[in-house]
Amino acid sequence: MGKDVIIACDFASAEKTFEFLDKFTTRKPFVKIGMELFYAEGPSIVKEIKARGHKIFLDLKLHDIPNTVKKSMAVLSRLDVDMTNLHAAGTITMMEGALEGLTREDGTRPLLIAVTQLTSTDQERMENDLLIKEPIDKVVMHYALNAAKAGLDGVVCSPLEAGKVHDTCGKNFLTVTPGVRFADGDIGDQKRVMTPAEAKKIGSDYIVVGRPITAAEDPVAAYERCIAEFVD
Ligand code: C5P
Repeated sequence: MGKDVIIACDFASAEKTFEFLDKFTTRKPFVKIGMELFYAEGPSIVKEIKARGHKIFLDLKLHDIPNTVKKSMAVLSRLDVDMTNLHAAGTITMMEGALEGLTREDGTRPLLIAVTQLTSTDQERMENDLLIKEPIDKVVMHYALNAAKAGLDGVVCSPLEAGKVHDTCGKNFLTVTPGVRFADGDIGDQKRVMTPAEAKKIGSDYIVVGRPITAAEDPVAAYERCIAEFVD
């Protein structure tokens, strides 16, 4: 499985998304579609972007009872996405159900990635709101290991955790890492960031890059810079 750069298409409408994607005339980037765009435009946005030749990471973070997740994943699989995700907190049984639902009749399926703890959840919130008293990095690794046990392909994590995830879950277990910024770029609201080159060095398999590309003066050049630093 090759390393790749995934652009977070955090736009509110199809119009804005296509205006952005129209700039990419040669190489068609792997794109991430999140809840905002999917809920605004529905499944047609996935089909349209797919028809333009892009790979798609559908970031909907499912979390429900195993049967509901299994059936919903079957629907997402028919949309022919390349990667999708769920919350590892839904348990190993839910993750196994998701894999079953995702697997098509011919045995193929999109990659399935788990969210461990959201980066918006810190130790204090985890202890007070969720009553999880263990250190957060231990919880993240435990959830990653649960995802590996369930047969998932990897986790979303900080590039700073990618090395440890590989040590814990195996080198073929994928790390999909947001929180990427250019050395000379704005950090924005991200706290712990790495450059694409550093993420490559530490072993990230996919970097998810939003604003450093979407808000750049020349998004195609910014994307090519990510590719040059992370992939080539
Ligand atoms: O614009 P930026 O590069 O910060 O975008 C990063 C993308 O990755 C956004 O879509 C954000 O929601 C997502 N993400 C994140 N941190 C996580 C999980 C997902 O930034 N822990």
